Amino acid sequence: MRGSRRTSSPSNPFDLNAYLARSTATVNRALDRFLPSERTRPTTLHRAMRYPLFAGGKRLRPALCLAAAEACGGRWDEALPLACAVECIHTYSLIHDDLPCMDDDDLRRGQPTCHVKFRTGDDAAGRQRGEAMALLAGDALLTFAFEIAGQCRAWPRYSHRDILLEIARAAGSRQLIAGQVADLEGEGRAVTARELRYIHERKTAALLCCAVRLGGMSANCTPLQLQALTDFGYHVGLAFQVIDDILDVTQSSKTLGKTAGKDVAAQKATYPAIVGLEKSRSIAAQLTNKAFTALRPFRGRAAALDALAQFLLKRDR
Ligand code: IPE
Ligand code: IPE
Ligand code: MG
Ligand code: MG
Ligand code: MG
Repeated sequence: MRGSRRTSSPSNPFDLNAYLARSTATVNRALDRFLPSERTRPTTLHRAMRYPLFAGGKRLRPALCLAAAEACGGRWDEALPLACAVECIHTYSLIHDDLPCMDDDDLRRGQPTCHVKFRTGDDAAGRQRGEAMALLAGDALLTFAFEIAGQCRAWPRYSHRDILLEIARAAGSRQLIAGQVADLEGEGRAVTARELRYIHERKTAALLCCAVRLGGMSANCTPLQLQALTDFGYHVGLAFQVIDDILDVTQSSKTLGKTAGKDVAAQKATYPAIVGLEKSRSIAAQLTNKAFTALRPFRGRAAALDALAQFLLKRDR
């Protein structure tokens, strides 16, 4: 799918390849500006924060945030601190997700994971140091996200308080972290479709939805627009994790840039494990259709969101 990101149906001649190249470059420049340099003390920590952040993520959450701002008549530069804040939280969640005490992964974004890269030796003490640095880099990225988000512009409808609460809730113990806990507690046992939905809503959809809502808030969107974005973000977020589960089974580690086949090995609760591949694909397509429907109130203005939802469904990594 990498070569066919362009969604060039006659009804939607949107060039998503070009859009993603532009949004990724803009977000990367902004992240580089926001983050302390590698020369800032403690230098090991700042290197450990920047290494996974610039390792080559797809930057889909920031793209969704910018596209949502656009759909509400807003500007990229006003959404940018929020797009960057969400990417910092996402990256922190991946660093921690990969730790030996969680999913225990060595490969992320095509590179050794943070805790592997920052090992100081191959013995137990060297490995432990790597884990400690990855843990701290994750903590620091999470905290830094709030520092960045606090630099956004406030609007009549959305104060800094609203924006910071939005992020804290999505990343907190009732959403993202709740999902990670349920994901771990679901390992190696029979999980119902309902429990699986609970996991996906929290570990993945909450932050994706937050990215989209923040984009709208940065554009002083109306309550109706915010509701439409919430509906869109929720369904795209759920579809995103169903596809992630499918790709773990169907793709190679090389394509994914992370270890394929880990979910089966760890006996994770996933859609392919519970309902099979075929049904998983149709669930992802249904969820994406619901996301398209949510965009109706925007009429022509949500071309980028529409194209992103199409791409997320068809992606191969
Ligand atoms: C992976 O997210 C983790 C999930 C929530 C499924 P992405 O597939 O967006 O990972 P990057 O940012 O491109 O590395
Ligand atoms: C990760 O889910 C979700 C978060 C990090 C919050 P996964 O464990 O499925 O993500 P991958 O497959 O390792 O990227
Ligand atoms: Mg996980
Ligand atoms: Mg994982
Ligand atoms: Mg996964």
